[in-house]
Amino acid sequence: MHLVVDHPLILHKLTILRDKSTGPKEFRELIREIATLMTYEAMRHLALRKKIVQTPLEECEGYEINDKNIVVVPILRAGLGMLDGVLQLVPNASVGYAGMYRDPETKMPVEYYVKFPAFYDDTEVFILDPMLATGNSAVKAIDLVKGKGGKHITLLSVVSAPEGLKVVELKHPDVRILTCAIDRGLNDHAYILPGLGDAGDRLYRTK
Ligand code: URA
Repeated sequence: MHLVVDHPLILHKLTILRDKSTGPKEFRELIREIATLMTYEAMRHLALRKKIVQTPLEECEGYEINDKNIVVVPILRAGLGMLDGVLQLVPNASVGYAGMYRDPETKMPVEYYVKFPAFYDDTEVFILDPMLATGNSAVKAIDLVKGKGGKHITLLSVVSAPEGLKVVELKHPDVRILTCAIDRGLNDHAYILPGLGDAGDRLYRTK
């Protein structure tokens, strides 16, 4: 199941993100802001507990989420660019890391660092990767999370290719995918067209 989060604020920011003249500082700010806006939508289903609160005038009934029950998993390295934007709304969430790079020949993900906190039956897991291209890294990250007991999983991806969406939905039909745009497709190097280039390189100015 996927949902396109096409709020005007997001589409405006995404357009600046795509612009090749946008430098790393602004790129990082925009990815972080878009991640915050996506989080607002991605966490709409979270369970609420009733909570009694004392206003200056009287006692009233309110609500609270249990953000200690949330695990955010950025796929390294580009997913790191979204992490602070998510944590801004759920500061008590735990963070796990799924470090993988794409083998330039096979285009398949190779894991080099994986560290997760505990997953319980009701833990809500949010996997972050700004680009859903072939879908292979996302599938691998979801496999790893499920292998450690993660059950309720949402993937947040800023820009997706139809090919990647199809792969993830086929392998993991239970995972919710939120994206801001579904682009035309992949080129021969598995980059998204029109896309925004290499998100990791643009975040960290490595090219
Ligand atoms: N990863 C990126 O950073 N960009 C793409 O277009 C595809 C994968």
